[in-house]
Amino acid sequence: MGRANKVVLAYSGGVDTSVCIPYLKHEWGVQEVITLAADLGQGDELEPVRQKALDSGASQSLVINAIESFVKDYAFPAIQANALYENRYPLSTALARPLIAKLLVDAAVEYGADAVAHGCTGKGNDQVRFDVSIAALDPNLKVLTPAREWGMSREETIAYGERFGIPAPVKKSSPYSIDSNLLGRAIEAGPLEDPWTEPPEEVFAMTKAIAETPNEPEYVEIGFERGVPVSLNGQALDAVSLIGQLNTIVGNHAVGRIDMIENRLVGIKSREIYETPAMTVLIDAHRDLESLTLTADVTQYKRGIEETYSRMIYNGLWYSPLREALDGFVQKTQERVTGTVRVKLFKGSAIVVGRKSTNSLYTEDLATYGAADQFDHKAAEGFVYVWGLPTRVWSEKLRQ
Ligand code: ARG
Repeated sequence: MGRANKVVLAYSGGVDTSVCIPYLKHEWGVQEVITLAADLGQGDELEPVRQKALDSGASQSLVINAIESFVKDYAFPAIQANALYENRYPLSTALARPLIAKLLVDAAVEYGADAVAHGCTGKGNDQVRFDVSIAALDPNLKVLTPAREWGMSREETIAYGERFGIPAPVKKSSPYSIDSNLLGRAIEAGPLEDPWTEPPEEVFAMTKAIAETPNEPEYVEIGFERGVPVSLNGQALDAVSLIGQLNTIVGNHAVGRIDMIENRLVGIKSREIYETPAMTVLIDAHRDLESLTLTADVTQYKRGIEETYSRMIYNGLWYSPLREALDGFVQKTQERVTGTVRVKLFKGSAIVVGRKSTNSLYTEDLATYGAADQFDHKAAEGFVYVWGLPTRVWSEKLRQ
């Protein structure tokens, strides 16, 4: 008796996930491996990936285009929550995992599988995100994790695969570990493991180097409805095209690169390079529109919610009662976050230079220093006296 009969395996076409196929069958007695590759806009040709799974011994090879759901159901709520892990990383990889977990669970039902599997190792965040998401969606479904248990080095893994006809990577494989989708690219390992080493230009694909960018600034106007981006430069766009087009516009000005040391959930600090052009600018623009349309107390209270929300995405708790409850709060705050933000892109910087909204709470009559001023200056006097009273009492007491 094997560990399972029929397994749906999350598949990327890489060495680890390919070797998982014969490993599950020959070491763990699995009868049938169905692979599932999700198209999330990573830009890879997925037909060769589909074929490679079959060549590696899969009985069926599924390719599922989930890009629209990825943007609408995962990226957009994250933008509404201004979600940045440790204040910087827009969670491009982390957001994809709960969606892939859902595809695995759905496929397990559809194909009558008694387990799902993934090729994550034991050192990263992704194993947590997959395992916890799957448990949340179907607590009775078994999760098999060969790469976490097999204890093979990279060379041994490749050699094992070759025994079953899985070709070794053709070129001397890149020293980097790269995860990519429509929201961005995450690059780690190789020379980047030294936090002092500047990332070489070759690791970037979505953003130009500053030296290569146009010598004129470019403006982009982003329209939001209820906190969700809906147009670029006045043109209404579907969710996927909007992110795609904005990635191109923004990346062309070298905006969206992040180089950080981040704290993984498993206790390890890791050096990550990201490029997330559209997400970086969208969160910035969205936060700016909130500053125009939300009251001071909501804006300030929401900061704490955003911080928790971001950490939950990072830590694999997308499907959890707290994340959903926080989302209820966030959605309520977004009801009036509708308007347009104007961003100036130039030589690696993206600066918001204008915002407007029919729901604007900005009141020129109150803010102006000119003659039209409507603010009651006399009322300020009494207010300031009362506001400062505890401090005045405290100071007097000190001096007695
Ligand atoms: N550290 C990021 C995260 O946990 C990205 C990891 C993606 N993988 C990679 N090979 N760079 O979300």
